[in-house]
Amino acid sequence: MCVGLGAVATTFMTGVLMTRKGLAKPVGSMTQYDKIRVGRGENKKYLHYGEIISLANLNDIEFGAWDAYPANAYESAVNAEVLKEKDINPVADELKQIVPLKAAFDKNYANRIDGANVKTCATRWDMVEELRQDIRDFKAAHHCDRIVVIWAASTEIYVPVNEAVHGTMASLEAAMKADDRANIAPSMCYAYAALAEGCPFIMGAPNTTVDILAMWEMAEKTKMPIAGKDFKTGQTLVKSGFAPIIGTRCLGLNGWFSTNILGNRDGLVLDEPANFRTKEVSKLSTLESILCADKQPDLYTDYYHKVRINYYPPRNDDKEGWDNIDIFGWMGYPMQIKINFLCRDSILAAPLLLDLVLLSDAAARDGRYGTQRFLSFFLKSPMHDYTQDEIPVNHLFQQYVMLKNAIREMGGYEADEEID
Ligand SMILES: NC(=O)c1ccc[n+]([C@@H]2O[C@H](COP(=O)([O-])OP(=O)(O)OC[C@H]3O[C@@H](n4cnc5c(N)ncnc54)[C@H](O)[C@@H]3O)[C@@H](O)[C@H]2O)c1
Repeated sequence: MCVGLGAVATTFMTGVLMTRKGLAKPVGSMTQYDKIRVGRGENKKYLHYGEIISLANLNDIEFGAWDAYPANAYESAVNAEVLKEKDINPVADELKQIVPLKAAFDKNYANRIDGANVKTCATRWDMVEELRQDIRDFKAAHHCDRIVVIWAASTEIYVPVNEAVHGTMASLEAAMKADDRANIAPSMCYAYAALAEGCPFIMGAPNTTVDILAMWEMAEKTKMPIAGKDFKTGQTLVKSGFAPIIGTRCLGLNGWFSTNILGNRDGLVLDEPANFRTKEVSKLSTLESILCADKQPDLYTDYYHKVRINYYPPRNDDKEGWDNIDIFGWMGYPMQIKINFLCRDSILAAPLLLDLVLLSDAAARDGRYGTQRFLSFFLKSPMHDYTQDEIPVNHLFQQYVMLKNAIREMGGYEADEEID
């Protein structure tokens, strides 16, 4: 079940439905394409993820959603203008049946969104209760064995962690019952409801929703996986793959300036400074754990890292990102690298939803719960236990090793770090 039925969610659903009919290919999806090595020496073989662990079949997926706007998935996909009508129409009937449930919504958290398809709840606790009922009803109506809830809704305003409220499950529940709207974002109600109903929860926006102690406790209690934050799609994917080039060759960094133009509804929401702040915190975290001053003070002390997103309607979902990287080499001589990525935001995000959903479902069945660090590969600002000084892993290739090893382990094979 997707929270949000906008550009990303409908591109994901349309792609899966088209793939089922043999009319499209799920390009970019690791679970559908990637092969990894298991075993060593003479026993080694390269297998698809689904040959190593049991993954849900695309034909067995039922899609549900909540959204503040009442448009069904067909209307929303057409409105989003990500896909051409020729790529939507063959599955129009299926998409029209995906009608969003009323959203647990608070305009103070996304004030550029103005839909009327919202729940009227007296308290945040009521929101949770209604969402739990939605999940139960959906599960029964669609005869589902298991549900995964994934956030693909707008980025909420930045909610700083407040230990007194977010520190324990008991304090979180008390704040929900007391209707503490300043500290309890609607996304927390979705996450709480999902976990309480025995569903993994994935945070695809940079919201700190499940990145608080209370949710970690909840995930542990319910034995459910959680993952977040923020789908790693365009610029941050490039950054987490490119920064290792600088780091492994021991080149220095003076500054990295990243800017984007984006014209879809996500861009509109992020044009609001309080919502952009949430994204900025997420995007800025990438470099620090790859190019570290404490490990290489000569090379990475005090570099200037700046990230901007500018709302520019003519481009709609076709995001353009520019990176200017000021590096230095032998004897400190400066050089520049420019990267210009003309990407399609939702086209890059859609396969991540599929992979995150299938892998967190597999992890739950394998008895894994709490933060799923092996899913960091798909996420811009990976969750980690900051209370234990654990560092997030942002390095794309280290993340890939973590992903492969988790799949090997779930499949009963030995984890290893061989490069291949
Ligand atoms: N596309 C990417 O490359 C990418 C990358 C990382 C993260 N994201 C994040 O994914 C999310 C979705 O992006 P998008 O382009 O589909 O945006 P979108 O604006 O097209 O869709 C978001 C939808 O969420 C709905 N919504 C807002 N608050 C809600 C709530 N409380 N409950 C239910 N629905 C709610 C909105 O009405 C809207 O229809 C955004 O938070 C975005 O930042 C996208």
